[in-house]
Order: sequence, then structure tokens, then C-alpha cells
Amino acid sequence: MKNNNIIIFDTTLRDGEQSPGASMNTAEKIQIAQQLEKLNVDVIEAGFAAASPGDFDAISQIASTIEKSKICSLARAVDRDIKAAGEAIAKAKMNRIHTFIATSPIHMQYKLKMTPDQVIKRAVDAITYAKTFVDDVEFSLEDAGRSEISFMKEITSAVIEAGASTINLPDTVGYRLPNEIADMVNQMVKHVDDKAIISLHNHNDLGLAVANTLAGITAGARQVECTINGLGERAGNAALEEIVMALKVRQDQFEGYTTNIKTTEIVRASKLVANITGIEPQPNKAIVGKNAFSHESGIHQDGVLKHQETYEIMKPSDIGLEKNNTIVLGKLSGSAAFNDKVKSLGFDNLSDDELKKAFNRFKLLCDKKKDILDDDIRMIIADEKLNDNKLYELISLQVSDCSNGVPSSAICIKFDGVETTDAAIGDGTMDAIFKTIDRITGYNGQLNDYKVSAVSEGQDALAKVTCKVTFNNDGPSMIGHGLNIDTILASARAYIGALNSYLSMQHTLDHKKTLHQV
Ligand code: KIV
Ligand code: ZN
Repeated sequence: MKNNNIIIFDTTLRDGEQSPGASMNTAEKIQIAQQLEKLNVDVIEAGFAAASPGDFDAISQIASTIEKSKICSLARAVDRDIKAAGEAIAKAKMNRIHTFIATSPIHMQYKLKMTPDQVIKRAVDAITYAKTFVDDVEFSLEDAGRSEISFMKEITSAVIEAGASTINLPDTVGYRLPNEIADMVNQMVKHVDDKAIISLHNHNDLGLAVANTLAGITAGARQVECTINGLGERAGNAALEEIVMALKVRQDQFEGYTTNIKTTEIVRASKLVANITGIEPQPNKAIVGKNAFSHESGIHQDGVLKHQETYEIMKPSDIGLEKNNTIVLGKLSGSAAFNDKVKSLGFDNLSDDELKKAFNRFKLLCDKKKDILDDDIRMIIADEKLNDNKLYELISLQVSDCSNGVPSSAICIKFDGVETTDAAIGDGTMDAIFKTIDRITGYNGQLNDYKVSAVSEGQDALAKVTCKVTFNNDGPSMIGHGLNIDTILASARAYIGALNSYLSMQHTLDHKKTLHQV
């Protein structure tokens, strides 16, 4: 009997990170990897080890942390990449190297400037070298969606012979329709027989990534590559949550098809990725959009109240969506009640120190906000984790009344135990704050994006600020997070968070350089 368990290969940390503005630091990547492990994904593509020392470092730390999912690194079909991938994943309990080369005429001719025979040789050499590091090697025919089937079969036979056990067929530019993907998978499954698993990796340029993936599964693909919230290069990848829930909800069509995903962890994974990357799913996004389970029209509301299935094809609880954002705790709650609540919200691996810090934040919030909700607690913990690495710490902040004067701010920041206070004027209050922080720290930040949203409802809702900042015109935009009942304070924290993230990345790079010199 055919095995109909679909291997879920998550590439949020690799292809997802290629979304414009989605770069993450090592601590953030580890947090996401831990949530992917809770979600029970089979394979985590943790990054592209040869891309930078920062990527290498993040992959190796993930490899040492994660136990239940297989850890994979991407590598071009060149020795340098494969060596970096092999070394980065060496400590993982289960590991895989994923190597690729383009196989479409357009890519071979214009990008690689290689003949088809040269491409086959390069692919075989890459697999042979990768096998010296790991047993499990995946090969991707980049731009398979626009490759010729006869060449795909030829190169696939050669790489299987060299030791590849998963053959991935990316629709790299999101060009194909579901019937075409099904046809391609059908032919390739027949061709490889039981010598390899056929995998899909569909981009969403025509909005068909999930439909194409499901069509491919019906045709025999047994691994699918996907990302949380559908993040990824350009229009993104197939969304993990949509594939998994389609298979679950439509068992009448996908009878016997299973995944190992613990679907009740989906919402947490989605929120974490959105929070860290600052890229929120659109409100009407399937499964995890803010409106995916809300009913606006009176007729719908009436129907759902009478019988949920009139307008809901799955239960919110199936994906871990708690409908009641309950009032949880108040001023008089002690640390035991707080810790219990934290556990019940799914944070079961916080250290004593992390719990203590979160409890102190909770107590401060109780002085300002009457009802503390589940979401408030979730955000406090997420914020503590995201701002764990506090090189610079905001001590105090004052802003002038800017209604009829020049906006100004006075700020005190602690660094290495020393507090420094300074002031600056700006074109607006935020500008004054960011300029003051620059004056104190000596870094020159350029704000690329700034978002503020309310964590829950009501006038006393916590404000969540996410900003993206480039420092000293150097490197990618760094993401900073700030959470406070006061938007101005949250903004200052977010800006300082971005700076801390930038410095921790610099530190990792410097440390790596030193290690390489030794
Ligand atoms: O889209 C693509 O072709 C890829 C491969 C590297 C798998 O991301
Ligand atoms: Zn891709």
C-alpha cells in the first residue's frame, strides 16, 4: 500500500527570510525553529549556510537546539556551499543537505551559461560531495516548472544514482497551473518509482501555490515545501497552514492522506512569525488572517449561533485559535497564578529568570490597565524574548509638548552599566526621539518602516510598535519591537531593539571572523 503521509518541509527560515524586509537575527530564528518543532514539522530548512557567517551561525545554533525535526541547509551545487551546509548542520540529531541547480533552458543558457551536460555533471558532483557530510541529500531542479521533462528525467536519474533521496521540483517563478503540476509530478513519480521521494516547492506569483501543491499531492508528491503565512521570495510560497488544513478538512477528497502537523500550534506559529518579521498576514488571509473566523453579516452571525457548521468549515480551536480572549488576571494575582496562566497559554519552556521578568512587566501593566487579557500576557512574553539581548536599555524618556513649539525629547539610556542622558530636537516627536537615541549611542539610524498596532481592544490597549532601521548605512534593515501602553515609549523601545539586534549581528560576525582567524 502506498504511504500517504505527506512530509512537511518548512522553509520559513530560508525562502521565507528572502521576503523583502523579513531578515531575522539568530535569537529570533531559534524562537521560530522551536515553534516549528512544536508544530511538528518534519524538516526545517534553517537557512543558507554559505550566505553569511550570521546565517551559518544561526543554522548551527538551531542544529544544536532542535531535537524532533530534521535540520536542513540549502547549498548551491558548489563545494564551498556544500561544505558550509555540512558543517552548519553537523550537530543536528537528524540532518539533510539540500542542493540545487537550475534545469530550465532559460536559466541554463542565460544565468548559468552552462550546457545541459555540464549541469548534470555539476549536480552529480554536488550530491557526491554532500554525501561525504550526511546520508540524507535532497536535490532541487531549480525552475523545474519551466524545464523540459526529458532533461528532468535524465538529471534526476543521475542524481539518484549519486545518492539523492528526495527530488524537489520547484515552480520557482510561480508560473504553472494545477493540472500542469499534476502532470509533471505524475511523470516524475513514475520515472523515479520508489528510488526517491518527489517533492514540490511552489511559488505564489499567480496565487496558485497551494492549489498547485494539492494537485501535486494527488499526483504522488510525498513532500511539500512551504512557509508559515506563505512568506517567501516575491509573492511568497505555498502557505503551510493552508495545505495542512485543506488536507485535514477535505478528507473526503484526500482520504488517508496525513501530515504529522499538530494543527493547534498553527496560530501560535503564525503570530510568532508575523511578530518577528513585522509582516502581518492580510486580514482576509485563509486560516490565519484576522477575519478568517469572524462573521460580519447578520445572517451569517445568526447561522453560526444556531449551528456553527452553517458558515464554518473548521473549528477555530483546530488551529489553536482561542475565541475567548478572557480577562485573566489582575492587580492582586500572585506569581503562582501568573505562571499557571503562562503555561496554559503554551509557553512551557520559559526559564525562571524569563518568568520573573515577565511577571514584573505584568505587575507594572496592572498599575495602568484594569483588565489584563490573554493577548496582553502573550505579548509581554514575546516582547521579553525578542528584547532579551539588551545592550542598550531605555531608562527614561521625556518629550516636549509639540503642539506649538519645536518637538524635542530628553532620554536616558544605560549601556554597560553606565547611564547617559541627552536631548535633541526633531521634525516631529518620533524624529526627536530617534535623533536623541542616535546622539547617545553614536549610531546613525535610518527608519525604513514603522508600524503601530493595538494588542487588544479598548482605549487602554497595549501598543505594539515594530520598526525597521538601517544603522550607519550598513547591512540589512534590522527589526525592532516595542510594547507599552504608551505608544511613544513603545516606539523608543522598538528603535533601541533594532539597534540591539544590529549590534548582536555585528558581534556574531566579529566573533565568527575571530574564530576563523584562529
Ligand atoms: O524557488 C526555488 O527554486 C528555490 C529553490 C532553491 C528550492 O527556492
Ligand atoms: Zn523558492
